[in-house]
Amino acid sequence: MIIKSIKLINFRNHTEYYLECDDNTSLILGENGSGKTSVLEAIYISTRGKSFRATDSEIIKTGTEFYRIELEYHNGEKIFITYDGKNKNFQTLDKKNKRLPKKYKYPVVLFLPSDLNLISHSPGRRRDYFNRVFSEFDENYNQNLLKYEKSLKQRNELLKNDNLAPEALFSWNLMLAKYGTKICEDRQKFIQEINSKLTTTYRSIAENDDEVNIDYRTEAKGLLETKYLQNLEMNFKKDLYLGHTSFGVHRDDYIFNFNYKIADGSASRGETRSIILALKFIEANLIYEKQHKKPIILLDDVFSELDPIRRKCLIKNFHDHQVIITSVEAIA
Ligand SMILES: Nc1ncnc2c1ncn2[C@@H]1O[C@H](COP(=O)(O)OP(=O)(O)OP(=O)(O)O)[C@@H](O)[C@H]1O
Ligand SMILES: [Mg+2]
Repeated sequence: MIIKSIKLINFRNHTEYYLECDDNTSLILGENGSGKTSVLEAIYISTRGKSFRATDSEIIKTGTEFYRIELEYHNGEKIFITYDGKNKNFQTLDKKNKRLPKKYKYPVVLFLPSDLNLISHSPGRRRDYFNRVFSEFDENYNQNLLKYEKSLKQRNELLKNDNLAPEALFSWNLMLAKYGTKICEDRQKFIQEINSKLTTTYRSIAENDDEVNIDYRTEAKGLLETKYLQNLEMNFKKDLYLGHTSFGVHRDDYIFNFNYKIADGSASRGETRSIILALKFIEANLIYEKQHKKPIILLDDVFSELDPIRRKCLIKNFHDHQVIITSVEAIA
């Protein structure tokens, strides 16, 4: 799907904003604080259903009572999103929906300036990042993750109760074991797929012989559901003392290796940039392989971090996608 235009009303600092998109590359130019990232945010909401950075109430323009997004695709399909401070609706041709209908979900590869810190971020940020990517790869992953997170929240809630009997956790343990093992398997599989392309893609950007790979770290590797369940049960006393669940895939991490050393602390800033760029190209490729849809590429302020060679490489690698780029300066 190709976006034709987007209109915003009371969205962040925009009272009214309209953008006609190019089929290939659109550039949103503007000073700091002019509302560029907000436009990408609106596109993301229209294609994925929710923002990548905030809740709806933070998005409504201060002093107003609703926000609205109107997005039109080239094939004539339209989606109108309204949030009135309480309820959000996604209006399509046939009806108003509470959530973005599946038919209207479209894959996106998003590049945020903060992604350049992915390698040195906390494990939680890396998990969030890969959760978002893997959810684009596979809707089932997303569903399993939602169920896992819901069960984890319930289990942790119960663990705040000092007089808790171990049996009270049983049904949540079952759910965590069921979805935790599935999530672990998927993460392993997806990281393997990324790794199989990572070094070659990196080399095509950096033009040298460096090696890159991602090491998926988990305590749940290869565990069957029954063993996963046992581990949760064995940790009962510890968890009760801690007040939260100490075993499971919510504690996984992804370590980037560069030339067989941990990249955080060894890869230079420029090398790190190239690793992240390679990751984005692979994401776009894998989404296309899996969904047969060309993801829309949203690049926020990416050029200010890249030298001219890498800028060219970026445009070249994404040339057959619709790309929307924000920048504070005109790009040569
Ligand atoms: N709910 C809101 N109501 C009104 N203004 C808001 C709201 N939320 C954010 N803003 C303001 O909107 C402006 C646009 O933010 P945005 O992040 O889109 O800017 P930007 O053009 O991407 O800036 P930068 O170049 O610094 O990344 C900012 O000045 C921000 O403070
Ligand atoms: Mg911005």
